[in-house]
Amino acid sequence: MKVLVSGGAGFIGSHICERLVNEGHEVVCVDNLDGYYSPEVKRRNIGSFDGDFTFIEGDIRDGVFLKGLVDGESPEYVIHEAAQAGVRASVADPLKTCEVNIQGTINVLEAVKESNVRKLVFASSSSVYGRIEYLPFDEEHPKNPISQYGASKLACEHYLRLYERFYGIKHTSLRYFTVYGPRIRPDLAIHKFARTALTGGRLELYGDGSKSRDFTYVSDAVDATLKALKKGGEVYNVGGGARVTVKELAEKIIELAGGGTISYIKDQMGDVMHTESNTEKARRELCWNPVKDFEEGLRETVEWVRSVNL
Ligand SMILES: NC(=O)c1ccc[n+]([C@@H]2O[C@H](COP(=O)([O-])OP(=O)(O)OC[C@H]3O[C@@H](n4cnc5c(N)ncnc54)[C@H](O)[C@@H]3O)[C@@H](O)[C@H]2O)c1
Repeated sequence: MKVLVSGGAGFIGSHICERLVNEGHEVVCVDNLDGYYSPEVKRRNIGSFDGDFTFIEGDIRDGVFLKGLVDGESPEYVIHEAAQAGVRASVADPLKTCEVNIQGTINVLEAVKESNVRKLVFASSSSVYGRIEYLPFDEEHPKNPISQYGASKLACEHYLRLYERFYGIKHTSLRYFTVYGPRIRPDLAIHKFARTALTGGRLELYGDGSKSRDFTYVSDAVDATLKALKKGGEVYNVGGGARVTVKELAEKIIELAGGGTISYIKDQMGDVMHTESNTEKARRELCWNPVKDFEEGLRETVEWVRSVNL
C-alpha cells in the first residue's frame, strides 16, 4: 500500500515510516523540519531507511501545496502526525499551535476530500481530557482541555468527524498517552531527565513531583496506528498502561543513568495532574495490545539518550 505520513521526520512519525518501509510499503513523508527542535535530528531520524521511501520537505499550513501533493502522489492512506506538539509550546505561542494543528489539519482534510484516500488516521492526544472527573480515562470521559494544545487536538477530532459526515472521509483519531522510546522529543521529561542525569546534573521537577503519566512505548503506539489503517471507528485511547509519578520517573532515570539529583520548581500552566488510559476499546476493536514493559522501555530510552548525547 502507499501511505502519506505527515510529520514523518519527527519522533513518532519516523518510527511509523520505518515500520511501513520495513514491511515493504511505499511511504511518502511530508515534513517541514520545523525548528521547534533541531532539523538535523529530524533528518537523522529518517536518514537510513532502506526501501520505498520519499521525503518531501513542505508545510501543512500551505493548503495549495498539500492538495498538489495528495493529487500527485495519490496515496491510499494518510497518517497525520504533523503538529506543533507540546503543552508548554502551545501556552507560549497559541497562534502557532492553532495554525499548524487546526488549520494544518483542515488543509489535510481539504486535500483528501476529493481523492482516492481510503482512510485518514490522526494523532490526537490524552490532553483532550484535561480536567479529571475519574480515572482511568475512557473515551467517553468529559473533554475539558486545560491547554491550547489539548484544545487544538479536540478541535481537530471534531473537524475529522465533520468531514467524515459531509464527505465520507473515513478516519480514526488516536489519543496517544505520553509516548517515549528512542528518538524521543528533546522537550519531553524522559529525554530532559536522562540528559541531565547522565551528566550528573539536577533534574527539575514541576510542583512536588506527584503528577503522574501513563507512558506508551513508541513501538506500541506505532502498532496501534498501523492497525487503525484497516480497522476501527472514530476514536481510541492508546496508552501503555504504566502510570508512574514524575518523582518515581526521575528516581528510576537517576538509577539507570548512574547520576543526578532531584530539585523542585514552580508548577507550569497547562499540565494536567494525572493521565491514565482505559484501553478496552482499542483492545477490542483494533485488536491492539501494548506489550512493552515500562522498566525495559525506559532502560532502552536512557541508553539511546546516552548514545546520542555523550
Ligand atoms: N510524543 C507524545 O508523547 C505525543 C502524545 C500525544 C500526541 N502526540 C502527537 O503525535 C504527533 C507526533 O508527535 P511527536 O512527539 O512525534 O512530535 P514531533 O515534534 O517529533 O513530530 C512532529 C513533526 O511534525 C513536523 N511539523 C511541525 N509543523 C509542521 C508543519 N507546519 N508542516 C509539516 N510538518 C510539520 C515537525 O517538523 C515534526 O517532525 C503529534 O501530532 C503530537 O501532537 C504526541
